Amino acid sequence: MDPAIRAIEDEFKSRLAAVRTAADAESLRVEFLGRQGKITELLGRIREIPSEERKAFGRDSNALKALAAAAVEEALGRFESTGGPEPYFDESLPGIEPPSGRVHPLTQTIHEITRIFEKLGFETVRGPEIETEFHNFTALNIPLDHPSREGFDTFYTDGGQLLRSQTSTVQIRVMQERKPPLRVLAPGRVYRPDTVDASHSFMFHQVEGLMVDEKTTFSDLKGILHLFLRQLFGRDTKVRFRPHFFPFTEPSVEVDIQWGTKGWLEILGAGCVHPNVFTAVDYDPKRWQGFAFGLGVERIAMLRHGISDIRHFYENDIRFLRQFP
Ligand code: PHE
Repeated sequence: MDPAIRAIEDEFKSRLAAVRTAADAESLRVEFLGRQGKITELLGRIREIPSEERKAFGRDSNALKALAAAAVEEALGRFESTGGPEPYFDESLPGIEPPSGRVHPLTQTIHEITRIFEKLGFETVRGPEIETEFHNFTALNIPLDHPSREGFDTFYTDGGQLLRSQTSTVQIRVMQERKPPLRVLAPGRVYRPDTVDASHSFMFHQVEGLMVDEKTTFSDLKGILHLFLRQLFGRDTKVRFRPHFFPFTEPSVEVDIQWGTKGWLEILGAGCVHPNVFTAVDYDPKRWQGFAFGLGVERIAMLRHGISDIRHFYENDIRFLRQFP
């Protein structure tokens, strides 16, 4: 090929690669194919070429003209159809990260707790937040004159129901529906008409545990709670069982852990299921034994993360929530 044709072809191709808009394509057309265009001039020179080379020169320069005309047409069509300059897309730039939500610190804490117990064979279940007096009190061996049944300790609905004040209601619901052996864990919201301050809220979260089998003793309860508290708070955690009273367990304990300079802190209530509770759900108290426990999720999350005010959990302040990836 004649070096003059080759040079113009190379120039056209590199200019074509830089075309970004319809206007670029149009000026390329004028520069190469217009009346004084570089390819047009090439064609005008055919007559001056010595006759032995004229045929090849004519063929090659006409081929270049056809190639250039088709390429300009293609570029014009491509850019005109988008109506204006093509937005320049640089695929090497980092992407735009869409904002994404996170799991709430209380839900994270519940997940950690249920994960530990699921390894011990406990199934996670749920119960309703609007409950009957039977499930919240009567079946749990809480007598009619017990102070927790008073209106200032429990929210009642006009229809004679209530907002559960403890997740122990789920013990009753599970035992009414199933036969032993049972190992369940029931996380969820509970409600009490407390005045809101740094450590109280009218709504908070508990996790209830219940195990029922033929030989389930207080030592099983101790072993499982030891294991659980050390997994949650660290393997060197010191645990203390303190005698206490709950109507629905006998014997009953409160369980404390030693927490730095704060000394012993109460973490949960527990005990062996009271025979009256078994009777209320038609379990034979002579055949079945069990234990139950209940813990406050907020308190555990506050201890582990050094949170000083319970209200942070409920205010949806993104600056607080962002700290829990
Ligand atoms: N329901 C009790 C409370 O809210 C905790 C508890 C649960 C105690 C199960 C013993 C057994 O304080």
